[in-house]
Amino acid sequence: MIKDDIIDAQNLNTQFFGKAIVYKHQTDSTNNLAKQNSDKLHGTVFLADVQTAGRGRSGRTWISDNSDGLWMSILLKPESLPEKLSSLTLVAGLAVVNAMKKFINADIGIKWPNDIVLNKKKICGILSEIFVDENTVKYVICGIGVNLNTEKFPDEISNIACSVKSECGIDIVKNDLLSEILNEFEPLYYEYIQNGLKNIIDDYKKNCITVGKEVLLTGTNYNCNAYALDLTDEGELIVLIDGEKKIISSGEVSVRGLFGYV
Ligand code: BTN
Repeated sequence: MIKDDIIDAQNLNTQFFGKAIVYKHQTDSTNNLAKQNSDKLHGTVFLADVQTAGRGRSGRTWISDNSDGLWMSILLKPESLPEKLSSLTLVAGLAVVNAMKKFINADIGIKWPNDIVLNKKKICGILSEIFVDENTVKYVICGIGVNLNTEKFPDEISNIACSVKSECGIDIVKNDLLSEILNEFEPLYYEYIQNGLKNIIDDYKKNCITVGKEVLLTGTNYNCNAYALDLTDEGELIVLIDGEKKIISSGEVSVRGLFGYV
């Protein structure tokens, strides 16, 4: 029987992130668990071995009914206006990439806005949810799912999903990766809250594999091919559609490669 508990992460160099970690062997979704415990302190992390109803972006399911990955959510309480937080999820993506690069020496990058891609396949997804009351941010939950040991994915996603084990054949200790993500995320988070993306965007762009590619855009207002030209200083995607420049924010579309996932 695995005990649900408050646990400590090793090698944590943070002031707030992960100072409290609520661990459950099983929960429906760590994002839901964080929401149910939103009275907890800023920086509290919710961690589960197994999620019975893991959630992805755009209402999709995130397969995590096994303990083959790192399934975690961070509860954040920024004193910011909601509109100032639209690219926080990009910052989380950069933190995860920086952390993963410490464990694996492989072709890893960010598919805009925040899918982490290893060898052109998705290894990590991020679901950021913002809870607002009368234009005041109550809290933000940043849910991060990293596939670590999955050896076989369902047929529908087997050509677009991967794990550290399937690509690199190595084991990463979950708690080590958790600590490293938090160590990377905390300073970037405070930089972002103070100055926006100004001092982060260049590093993000260096890791972003979307820019310079032909992409397929799908969303309420888009269903077309485009060329990803660049990112704005606010982290929006600048695309060319039939020769016309358009600026797209991260909630608006889903971006795929023309011939595959990236
Ligand atoms: C996506 O790429 O669609 C986002 C996937 C986010 C998955 C993580 S796993 C931990 C947290 N709990 C959830 O239910 N979802 C996020």
